[in-house]
Amino acid sequence: MTVPLPRHVAIIMDGNGRWAQQRFRPRVIGHRAGARAVNSCIDFCIARGIGALTLFAFSSENWGRPSQEIDALMKLFLGALEREVAELHRRGVRIRFIGERSRFAEAIRQRMTNAETLTAGNQVLQLSIAASYGGRQDIAEAARALAREVAAGRLDPEAIDETLLGAHTALSDLPAPDLFIRTGGDFRISNFLLWQLAYTELWFTQTLWPDFDQDLFQQALDDYARRERRYGLTSAQVASGQQESTPL
Ligand code: IPE
Ligand code: IPE
Ligand code: MG
Repeated sequence: MTVPLPRHVAIIMDGNGRWAQQRFRPRVIGHRAGARAVNSCIDFCIARGIGALTLFAFSSENWGRPSQEIDALMKLFLGALEREVAELHRRGVRIRFIGERSRFAEAIRQRMTNAETLTAGNQVLQLSIAASYGGRQDIAEAARALAREVAAGRLDPEAIDETLLGAHTALSDLPAPDLFIRTGGDFRISNFLLWQLAYTELWFTQTLWPDFDQDLFQQALDDYARRERRYGLTSAQVASGQQESTPL
């Protein structure tokens, strides 16, 4: 029997600050250790043949953190963009960024665009980095895009349905995440992919992000493989293959 593998995994990488605090170190040390865990997580997806990985790196709300921490995080982003992109490209990773890009400094925005352009044709792993991202903002932006079409007389409001709105949200060209992982022990979505997670399997661990390793990732996959995804149907219907298609 083939074990179902998620086509798309979305992760809230939480707990960097606490990881550092436990070691009586400044929070930025935790973010640095977190960046190493990102690399190992990407390696794992490539090795296991997971086609899409979306990582929550920085939320719209994270702009409210102390400026010292924001500065350190921006330096880390810039460093990671300078260091990692060429190697990811070599390995066939397509990189893209979702979120409010205009809030980043020009040097970061430029490198984001360069990384996207360079890797646009890659197919081994679709890596999406959510940076200055908020799920509500994502939905609001989709609504605004449709409203513009209506105002311009190009769209009948009655034609707006879930498919059309969904097509205007981030990552609409990818399958919705099958598996959501949150490290760090909190049981919440924190304004991550609100629309896209509608039928995603949720998996939480107490482990802090810098300690998230491939064994734990495998544990999440094993748990995922044991879940029954019913999409509103009964177990018997699912067993008899009655569902017409997997929605979303
Ligand atoms: C997640 O770790 C990384 C970012 C939000 C940028 P945190 O920095 O939230 O770590 P904790 O939750 O304070 O431990
Ligand atoms: C969520 O973590 C955002 C990222 C991991 C980038 P937070 O640490 O910001 O979430 P809350 O504040 O605990 O909900
Ligand atoms: Mg946190």
